[in-house]
Amino acid sequence: MNKQVRFRTVFWGLIGIAFTIFWILLLSGNILWTSDTPPLQVIRDMDNQMRIMPQEEYPFFLDRSSDRPPLPYTVPRYAQVYTPETVDEALEKYPENPLPATEFVLARGKNRFETFCAPCHGFEGKGDGTVVQRGFPAPPDLNRDITRGYPDAQIFHIISRGQNVMPGYADKLSETDRWAVVHYVRWLQQRAAQTTESSSTEAGE
Ligand code: HEC
Repeated sequence: MNKQVRFRTVFWGLIGIAFTIFWILLLSGNILWTSDTPPLQVIRDMDNQMRIMPQEEYPFFLDRSSDRPPLPYTVPRYAQVYTPETVDEALEKYPENPLPATEFVLARGKNRFETFCAPCHGFEGKGDGTVVQRGFPAPPDLNRDITRGYPDAQIFHIISRGQNVMPGYADKLSETDRWAVVHYVRWLQQRAAQTTESSSTEAGE
């Protein structure tokens, strides 16, 4: 008798516990519940790994820089080598900008210009970028008459090879992107000419 009662208590107790666990598992696994806190990870697999951020100091290398220079005598895969040495060679090779000045091309040019050029040339091309405000030699205003008179190929050549203290961008921007930037520089120049008809001609130099 006593034994039977104990058996029943244990039996229903276990059923109760199983039932509770079942509901906890069912509810806590609800895929529709969202949470901003990161999940508890018992086994982390390879989700979190030691890594170094771009431009971070890293004591492993002698120069303590995490940015590594490319190996000598190597060329990036899919690299487009820019061959013209002089403006004249560029003029001969590229009679005109191969890209149409569509909205998309201009948007791409704007994006690349504001990423790669604006730090020095400023968002309007006036030569007042952040780097210049901190002491880098000021480039001339891209909207001045002299620069406006450059053929497209000359601007393309300057972007690709650099000019004096300005570094070349052939290894950082694809050929297509550089032509898109040329279109955007033209667009900036047109806008500047429209807004101030008497814009400064020799600013910067
Ligand atoms: C590190 C700063 C810096 C960056 C970044 C830079 N430039 Fe320059 N750029 C200069 C300086 C300085 C000059 C003037 C060089 C000289 O003395 O001839 C110059 C000159 C030029 C000229 C010739 C202007 C003229 O009237 O002779 C053009 C065009 C030009 N840059 C376009 C660009 C474009 C487009 C980009 C982005 C792809 C760019 N630059 C990125 C600093 C920079």
